Amino acid sequence: MAKIRVAFIGAGALASRYHYPSVASLPDVEIAGIAELNPERAKAAAAKYGVGRTFGDYKQMLAEVDPQAVYVIMPPQYLFEPVNFALKQGRNVFIEKPFGMTTDQAKHLAYVAETHGCTTQVGFQRRFIPAMTALKRRVEERGPIHTVSVSFLKHTPDLSRPAGLYDGVIDPLRCDGIHAVDNLRWLAGGEVERVASDARIRYVPGTMANAVTAHVAFSSGAVGLLHFSYVTGRRIFRAELHGQNATAYVDADRESHFVADGNEPEVFASNAFGEDLGGQEHHWLGFWHEHRSFIDCIQEGRRPSCDFHDAVKTMELVDRIYQSR
Ligand SMILES: NC(=O)c1ccc[n+]([C@@H]2O[C@H](COP(=O)([O-])OP(=O)(O)OC[C@H]3O[C@@H](n4cnc5c(N)ncnc54)[C@H](O)[C@@H]3O)[C@@H](O)[C@H]2O)c1
Repeated sequence: MAKIRVAFIGAGALASRYHYPSVASLPDVEIAGIAELNPERAKAAAAKYGVGRTFGDYKQMLAEVDPQAVYVIMPPQYLFEPVNFALKQGRNVFIEKPFGMTTDQAKHLAYVAETHGCTTQVGFQRRFIPAMTALKRRVEERGPIHTVSVSFLKHTPDLSRPAGLYDGVIDPLRCDGIHAVDNLRWLAGGEVERVASDARIRYVPGTMANAVTAHVAFSSGAVGLLHFSYVTGRRIFRAELHGQNATAYVDADRESHFVADGNEPEVFASNAFGEDLGGQEHHWLGFWHEHRSFIDCIQEGRRPSCDFHDAVKTMELVDRIYQSR
């Protein structure tokens, strides 16, 4: 099997924890280079995953390694330049969410990707959680999903600081809550028709909201309920999917449930799905599956479900949630 040659820009915390082990385990992929401003991080990742070449300058790496796909994993304020550069060379690009500081940046990158024929994907790994895809299918066997509720909840250890992430450069909903916004869109299906919302700043100083709720009506006929908060008891990411007399509760960090016709729920441990792959965190949280899917799309000439074009719609829904508060 011919291997796809890929390269990484960034070897930081999240990249090292989830993306490197996922990509490195794909048998049809070779990680041929790493570009990192921090040489220690580059060396550590290269040693762990047997990558031959490391660089300080990503432009030099792209020129010398000539990768077919590039993973650009770094905070959103640094993303635009390397992603724009790689796309203009016609390279396929995977990036973490959010894929721009603003919807205009995201739209520009989607335009550049389209005009240069690049396959792209944004890291909305929750679409790929094996429990999510398996139980979504179970609900849909009964007919279309009619109601979706997605909660993304965390607590704030230091309430004396404003809510913005990366020292205030971006608001929590666009940077982090966007996972729940995207999950809501993907589970409900169709286009956004109406939005009603509330966005509040609770307990912290500053101007950025840390508690957002929204009610979204979709052209599919489904209704979505969003609850995003940084001031609750603990971290929870949970999706509820309701179809005709069928319900799934998906919490990939703990356990998931399927129940139909008033019967007792079937309960699945967080790692019940994906055990066949090795049962590691990146398997049951969806990271391995998003990378498998991205490479399959490149190999088969298909569009990823959350390519830049689709992910612009998630950025636009964030805008609408703020506009309609
Ligand atoms: N999917 C999820 O569930 C999830 C969870 C947390 C964070 N994230 C996202 O992950 C991203 C952050 O990833 P991380 O934790 O690996 O980042 P990080 O901040 O730990 O590391 C970023 C690395 O990129 C390097 N870097 C920056 N600019 C560079 C350049 N021009 N050339 C080469 N290297 C460069 C830095 O030296 C640093 O080592 C953010 O977009 C964040 O929103 C996603």
